[in-house]
Amino acid sequence: MRIFKRIKDYRDWRDRIKGKIGFVPTMGALHQGHISLIREMKKECDISVVSIFVNPLQFGKGEDFNKYPRPLKDDLKICRIEKVDCVFLPDVKEMYPQEVKITIDPGWMGDVLCGIDRPGHFAGVLTVVLKLFMIIKPEIAYFGKKDYQQYVLIKRMTKDLNIAIKIVGCPTIREKTGLALSSRNKYLNENEKKDALLISKSLYYARERFSEGINKARQLQGFIKKIINTGANNKIIYIKCIDFESLQGKKVLRRGDVIAIAVRTGNTRLIDNIEL
Ligand code: PAJ
Repeated sequence: MRIFKRIKDYRDWRDRIKGKIGFVPTMGALHQGHISLIREMKKECDISVVSIFVNPLQFGKGEDFNKYPRPLKDDLKICRIEKVDCVFLPDVKEMYPQEVKITIDPGWMGDVLCGIDRPGHFAGVLTVVLKLFMIIKPEIAYFGKKDYQQYVLIKRMTKDLNIAIKIVGCPTIREKTGLALSSRNKYLNENEKKDALLISKSLYYARERFSEGINKARQLQGFIKKIINTGANNKIIYIKCIDFESLQGKKVLRRGDVIAIAVRTGNTRLIDNIEL
């Protein structure tokens, strides 16, 4: 497995290899969610590239950039086991050698949902993803639908900016309990973890009611709210019913629409969503 910390070294290697390159960008602390993306990539591509970079540009003031888990040894071990061909592992100086003046503006779609309490977050995400695309130059890139808004924005960026990279969205991987895997689950204590389970539980409950014919957003949001609020550590940030592609809010839901949730459980910000 090749490990490149320098852009130039990666590019030298990239110029020499042949075949279809797949790419999974990550911030490390790899779990089964990341591994599912890697396996999907390995199925379809000749050469597999994973990046590990905790991107300061997408963290707001007071967010967890400094305490974000960085278990590099374990991450590299996982990549080796999964037979990843190349890990791109730049440091902050390599990615941002000078003050960043030019960024990608996600517009309205970056201001809704998670953009409300994380202003600037998606500009930071799109900027680093575009930079990584320009460096890695893959044919296909893989993203989890767990971060639904991120996935939609990246797909839209490639369309609007004519970036010739296919974006593949992969299903959310969950614990047996239903809890969506996240590097941030590590922050939860036992009580908080119990309360966090209510998030997926409420989404499954809402989907069940939807399949029985309840399609009013307000009603479904009401069910979800009630369930999540039974957890003493839970504070709802938002519960939104949205169109799967435009992210626009919907009053009446149809098959294929998405319910997206953000909750603060203790001090940990968790997100989840379900496709109807
Ligand atoms: P990170 O949170 O490390 O996630 C990397 C990729 O793994 C994303 O596409 C994310 O949606 C996916 N992922 C995370 N948890 C998942 C789960 N439970 N099931 C399926 N996929 C899951 O997302 C980021 O990093 C960053 O914003 C990044 C895109 C790397 C830009 O910095």
